[in-house]
Amino acid sequence: MSRVVVTGRVPEAAIEKLRAEHEVDAWQGPESIGREELLRRVAGADAVVSLLTERIDAELLDAAGPQLKVVANVAVGYDNIDVPACTERGIVAANTPGVLTDATADIAFGLILMATRRLGEGERLIRSGKAWKWGMFFLLGSSLQGKTLGVVGMGGIGQATAHRAKAFGMEIVYQSRSEIDPGIAAELGARRVELDELLAVSDVVSLHCPYGPATHHLIGAGQLAAMKSSAYLVNTARGPIVDEGALASALREGQIVGAGLDVFENEPSVHPGLLELDNVVLVPHLGSATVETRTAMAMLAADNALAVLSGERPPAPIN
Ligand code: GLV
Repeated sequence: MSRVVVTGRVPEAAIEKLRAEHEVDAWQGPESIGREELLRRVAGADAVVSLLTERIDAELLDAAGPQLKVVANVAVGYDNIDVPACTERGIVAANTPGVLTDATADIAFGLILMATRRLGEGERLIRSGKAWKWGMFFLLGSSLQGKTLGVVGMGGIGQATAHRAKAFGMEIVYQSRSEIDPGIAAELGARRVELDELLAVSDVVSLHCPYGPATHHLIGAGQLAAMKSSAYLVNTARGPIVDEGALASALREGQIVGAGLDVFENEPSVHPGLLELDNVVLVPHLGSATVETRTAMAMLAADNALAVLSGERPPAPIN
């Protein structure tokens, strides 16, 4: 029997699955586990099932001890994990790709609709109690049909967002490290371009790339200036891919028309410049937040941990 530490609350089915084979120490507090408590609890763990709010770095791996075999993140993004530090210590790192693809693409498209159709502004107006009435020029937004979606990072979530956009009558361009399946590209009518061209031609730019040193502030003042003044930016990937200060300035100065953000540079803080603006939709990191998806993520993370503990390759390894 091994010792599994779960760093935050996850759906019970995953805890039961782990508990059927191992001793499980799952943090149950209403708040995130604090760093000190986390370092104390991981001592002697054979597996750590981590949430994206916890930093899994060399200090934590060393606090766990040399018996630690696997870190299973309950997220597809793994910028909270120092993967090279895991690899150096022979620890397997794993994530949860696939199971949250549709949920996240739904939120990306929800933000696209909210931003382009000004739904947040309308909702705030009604709730404010201010007078309003239907008018020919009242809260006009932009139509999506015939417009171009630029997808930055054409992995599973980027492709799922592109499929939704296609169904809404949009054209697709994408920028990606690798070419996608030619059949899917043909079905979507999607054209691969460099980021410069994508920014210049897109009416909506949606970010779906992983976060890391190569994508830190990928969208900054220069890139925002390169976008159409009628364009929108949507981020459901990771906050620091966008320079939030530069985005607030671009939105304030009308360099782009609107934005929708599910993720933030210093979560859970939001840049004060963004909070003042009406032309940005702000939602609190809800990409994978459905009962079904969170359950599937936790089960996949449990499967990753269980596989490694029984000496097998996990279903979704990172290293
Ligand atoms: C959520 O943000 C994830 O990476 O799974």
